[in-house]
Amino acid sequence: MSENASLPRHIGFIVDGKSAMGKTAWLAGTYEGHLAGYNALKDVVLEVLHRGVKYASAYVFSTENWKRSEEEVRHLMKLLLNILKADLPIFIENEVRLRVVGSREGLSDQLIKAIDEAEEKTADLKNGELVLCLNYGGHLEIADAVKKIVQSGVSPEEITPELIAQNIYAPEVPPCDLIVRTSSEQRLSNFMLWRSAYSELMFIEKNWPDMTTDDVSVILEEYANRNRRFGK
Ligand code: IPE
Ligand code: MG
Repeated sequence: MSENASLPRHIGFIVDGKSAMGKTAWLAGTYEGHLAGYNALKDVVLEVLHRGVKYASAYVFSTENWKRSEEEVRHLMKLLLNILKADLPIFIENEVRLRVVGSREGLSDQLIKAIDEAEEKTADLKNGELVLCLNYGGHLEIADAVKKIVQSGVSPEEITPELIAQNIYAPEVPPCDLIVRTSSEQRLSNFMLWRSAYSELMFIEKNWPDMTTDDVSVILEEYANRNRRFGK
């Protein structure tokens, strides 16, 4: 969409942190808390894509998050189902393609059906893509890629970084130019391990539910000032 190198092609969001009220949280607490986090996610992602960034990914549930309480996992799964069903028209209206990457193991049939439907109904939309990393883990993604490669019967000499890149989830989605994590946490927590090799990292103090479209300007401005060298 954009020829402008100072604009990232792909931003990954690690949505983290409690809201200012201290009551609500994304990935820590109530359904309402998660909902506040999701509403911020929708606003920020739509704004980012509107500005010409082609891909936004969001880490909404990790392969490790099953270790959370049963209640919290239930809240999150319910919210994710709602997003995929109730908010599908919003993504369609904005011509945003939805992709969901991660393992399907442990997900309910209902959720799997909603994922398939959301992906199918938005497959031809061209105003940017939202990649939901749901039951996603960077280690598992690489292990799954290796599994596919081995099953295809290639010889060890044929294994290259390019071949691995072609076998990760949604291989058309490019590396993350930028990864943003909120709530002052400074780690990747198994997010986009393959695609983060040369990502710029941005850590924001704000908690995710407090993020607004104004923050998008700040993020894009800071990115434009980064000096990316890729080893040169
Ligand atoms: C990363 O946060 C995962 C998501 C935002 C989905 P976690 O809370 O799971 O990771 P750690 O435990 O803080 O590293
Ligand atoms: Mg955490």
